[in-house]
Amino acid sequence: MNWHTPTKFAQTTIGLYGETGANWLKNLPALIADCEKRWGLTVKRPFPNLSYNFAATAVRADGTEVVLKIGVPNPELLTEIEALRLYDGRGIVRLLDADPEQGIMLLERLQPGTPLVTVEDDEEATAVAAQVMQNLWQPAPPSHSFPTVEKWAQGMVKLRREFDGGTGPFPPQLVETAESLFAELLATQAEPVLLHGDLHHWNILRAQRAPWLALDPKGVVGEPAYEVGAWLRNPIDRITDWPDLKRMQARRIDQFVERLGVERERLVGWGIAQAVLSAWWSYEDGGHVGEGALTCAESLLG
Ligand SMILES: Nc1ncnc2c1ncn2[C@@H]1O[C@H](COP(=O)(O)OP(=O)(O)O)[C@@H](O)[C@H]1O
Ligand SMILES: [Mg+2]
Repeated sequence: MNWHTPTKFAQTTIGLYGETGANWLKNLPALIADCEKRWGLTVKRPFPNLSYNFAATAVRADGTEVVLKIGVPNPELLTEIEALRLYDGRGIVRLLDADPEQGIMLLERLQPGTPLVTVEDDEEATAVAAQVMQNLWQPAPPSHSFPTVEKWAQGMVKLRREFDGGTGPFPPQLVETAESLFAELLATQAEPVLLHGDLHHWNILRAQRAPWLALDPKGVVGEPAYEVGAWLRNPIDRITDWPDLKRMQARRIDQFVERLGVERERLVGWGIAQAVLSAWWSYEDGGHVGEGALTCAESLLG
């Protein structure tokens, strides 16, 4: 193996975990070498678009390709592993093995693995996303360690605390709208299911077992309508340049309502609330308000 840790990935890791992250990065080549030995792998170059975790194609002794994914051990990696175990390949990449304590996953390699963001026709891409959602949802296990939508919504409380009860750089009206939507929707949720929790255009890839499969689940428990939110604020790098964003969102919502049989009002409400929450997550993680997510929240308002 011969590569340099991508700069942006290294910056993100250090930004999030400070010295722990820096030490983890230093130790990463040794950790990868351990994995190569443990599973008889040859690890190739990492994927070009790393964000929070290291991920690379690896070749097994028999020539089959797999993916090695490693991250700084943290609760999100644990719930990702747990969700992948429960999904057991239905609608999503298969988990072949894992070492939760060390934040390591060995995954089926999706081939060709082209992300759904490459499908330019938004209606076509949205139809695929709706199908993937339906394939994934399954009843939440009676006892589990996944976060719930309620727990995620606590992010809004953190936002207020950060700005002494105010909203800092966040538009107050949008924050108030998100807070009341969360309260209203949480109080009236339908039967909870195990949701992917981050189903956007880079987390659905072209595959062979099925035309498209998901990967990278957060594993969050909530009602099905919640799942659509991540799609409505993506693709985040270009959605805000869409010539007629409001119209596109209206069409997407029509498609989801028709295909998923969820209530329009709930779907839109979750979309707005989550977009604001996501803008807060960007602030929490990197110190910058997620402006794209806020624009999406605006685009969903009546
Ligand atoms: N099993 C896989 N098969 C094919 N490509 C993969 C696989 N796992 C990851 N990738 C590629 O690596 C990228 C990052 O992986 P992902 O699991 O989404 O990491 P992160 O948790 O950092 O978002 C994906 O967008 C995809 O391009
Ligand atoms: Mg991802």
